Amino acid sequence: MLDHEQVVVRSGRRSRLPVIVAVHSTALGPAAGGLRLWHYPDWRDGLTDALRLSAAMTAKFAVAGLPSGGGKAVVALPEGMVLDPDRRRDVLEDVADTVESLGGTYATGPDVGTGPDDMAVIGTTTRHVFCRPARLGGSGDSSPHTARGTLAALRAVSRRLYGTASLDGRRLAVAGLGRVGTELARLLAAEGAALTVTDVDQDKRKTGHELGADWVAPDEILAAPVDIVVPAALGSCLTRQSVTRLRCDAVVGPANNQLATPDVADLLHRRGVLWVPDYVASAGGVVHAVSVEVHRLSAEEARARVDAIEHTVTDLLTTADAQDLSPAQAATALVRQRLAAADPAGRSAA
Ligand SMILES: NC(=O)c1ccc[n+]([C@@H]2O[C@H](COP(=O)([O-])OP(=O)(O)OC[C@H]3O[C@@H](n4cnc5c(N)ncnc54)[C@H](O)[C@@H]3O)[C@@H](O)[C@H]2O)c1
Repeated sequence: MLDHEQVVVRSGRRSRLPVIVAVHSTALGPAAGGLRLWHYPDWRDGLTDALRLSAAMTAKFAVAGLPSGGGKAVVALPEGMVLDPDRRRDVLEDVADTVESLGGTYATGPDVGTGPDDMAVIGTTTRHVFCRPARLGGSGDSSPHTARGTLAALRAVSRRLYGTASLDGRRLAVAGLGRVGTELARLLAAEGAALTVTDVDQDKRKTGHELGADWVAPDEILAAPVDIVVPAALGSCLTRQSVTRLRCDAVVGPANNQLATPDVADLLHRRGVLWVPDYVASAGGVVHAVSVEVHRLSAEEARARVDAIEHTVTDLLTTADAQDLSPAQAATALVRQRLAAADPAGRSAA
């Protein structure tokens, strides 16, 4: 059954590449979610990604208490394709046409493979775009805010597990030193955390070295003997197999769609590993963008909303305990409750 309101798949007029926009739900408001420009073995894998990521956006906004719905755009690049600047512009203009054709049902923003400069290009065709550079009136790069929000989630988890929100001396393993992972690792290092890091890109070793972090191979990071593992790369890292190797107390990170299959959340819970759903821990970027660009809050007020993720996670863990649920189950219940309150006819599924 398709539980999305709308899915558009087009062959880009200029690029001839598959442009996919999935609108999962507009029950809470117009849908928003980033544009992923990524390589897939088959464009249908990009469609699967768009369906999952857009549903996660619905949940992300619902838990964050924001009046936006869940959507996502994916342009599925064939493996090995490198976009030269002209072709990249073609792709972005194809996406912009598709977003504009939806008339405000969906607004796009940056995600893996795209950034504020790409949003500037899209913004020449449609106003339904977030995170353009500040000089163009947008809220700019969302990744520092995503990192800050994840830090807030980590503080809540630390207080719950170790009785203190401070991460000084805590051992954390950060998987993926991209825009969010690097910023988060910097914040953690500045606070005195002991870091183990990895990335598939060997050039990131230098960043790890600058942070005073231990480096391990990507396939070893989940088994690192640390307090908290922080997934900050791409999705589906938590599989039935990989979670049996975990030696940590908790998994909390910004990577979207960490679970390969939903049942892995139960497995984590049964193994006593505290997992904060990715859509809760990674909300800082969208919370900031919506707060600045839609609600016109000041930078300070927007930051306060991002920091409030600490309270959201604390409340979630408290509810989970009180109702004998896993944090994932408690989060799902909260999403359902908020969607049902906004859409009593139950047109959108969570
Ligand atoms: N940028 C944001 O504001 C934002 C917001 C919410 C969620 N996220 C999610 O956070 C994650 C990171 O986003 P980003 O913006 O930093 O992306 P990015 O593309 O800048 O960084 C991803 C990094 O992960 C590395 N990587 C890829 N596969 C890996 C693997 N198997 N093992 C180790 N490293 C690997 C890449 O080399 C890259 O350095 C993504 O899952 C993204 O969807 C990002």
